[in-house]
Amino acid sequence: MILITGATGNVGSELVALLAAENVPVRAMTRSPGKARFPAGVEVVAGDFDRPDSLVGAMDGVDRVFVLPPGYGSDGPVQERALAAAAAQAGVSHLVKLSTSGVTFDATDPISAGHRLGEQVVEDSGLSWTILRPGTFMVYLYGYAPTIAAEKTMYVTEGDPVSAMIHPRDIAAVAAHVLTTPGHEGRAYTLTGGQALSPRQQADTIGQVLGRPIRLVERTRAEAQAEFDRLGWSGPRLEALLELKRQSAAWDFTVFDTVEQLTGSAPLTLHDWVSENSHLFD
Ligand SMILES: NC(=O)c1ccc[n+]([C@@H]2O[C@H](COP(=O)([O-])OP(=O)(O)OC[C@H]3O[C@@H](n4cnc5c(N)ncnc54)[C@H](OP(=O)(O)O)[C@@H]3O)[C@@H](O)[C@H]2O)c1
Repeated sequence: MILITGATGNVGSELVALLAAENVPVRAMTRSPGKARFPAGVEVVAGDFDRPDSLVGAMDGVDRVFVLPPGYGSDGPVQERALAAAAAQAGVSHLVKLSTSGVTFDATDPISAGHRLGEQVVEDSGLSWTILRPGTFMVYLYGYAPTIAAEKTMYVTEGDPVSAMIHPRDIAAVAAHVLTTPGHEGRAYTLTGGQALSPRQQADTIGQVLGRPIRLVERTRAEAQAEFDRLGWSGPRLEALLELKRQSAAWDFTVFDTVEQLTGSAPLTLHDWVSENSHLFD
């Protein structure tokens, strides 16, 4: 039995679906089992990283766990610590942790720093482990959808990264492979899409799918901050995301061939992702 944490999210929902389609016994963890919708045959269990007792029960009879930590606060990788302790107690053999490519590139932003410490917890757990370090998810473009729909305009901040964005289904495909085949113990894989695209190229891809041109407007950092203030967006989570974005301009364009190496299929493209989600931009 494989336990999937983060099972209702971008990566976890795709992973649950892929494993269920292969008839792999899978248990999906969520804090709200009553609300979650999973394919037939998937076991659902209530579990909360912040309630360690719930984790031990969720892992009863589980051999492998996909570890998707939802976030990091000032108190460090408490969620990985709770999960690793529960996994050892429940007799789990292997942990596959979702991390971030910022760790590969020695980033110092709070999100990458949190994942680096979380990786250490998993590596020190006494269980066998594999780390997956994806770069920017294509779902990042959700943030641009409202103005693309309303004004046919994508507002970006000066210096925004050229990005080899990855489709969450490709991360899930790698995770499914790693969770169901041997030979990945003690390995860390950095994962990206197959093409690095500038914000202009990202807007053009959205425009191609929608069948109309999308204007790109580059805001200065001060203008972007003024817009965040207008929307009432602030706090450590936003600051952490902005710092990761600033730092990632130095590497986010780097393309890794890991998805194809591990799954045997070329990565899905941004055109694929926008086509699946075009209703959001229309
Ligand atoms: N976005 C990017 O570009 C990017 C790039 C690299 C790495 N990452 C990493 O990817 C991860 C996010 O993945 P995602 O986008 O697939 O997630 P997501 O869509 O944001 O979903 C978050 C998931 O975490 C679960 N969750 C939240 N709080 C929880 C708690 N206290 N206990 C148990 N489960 C909890 C939610 O489940 P319920 O609400 O159903 O309980 C949900 O399934 C983060 O670690 C992030 O740093 C993101």
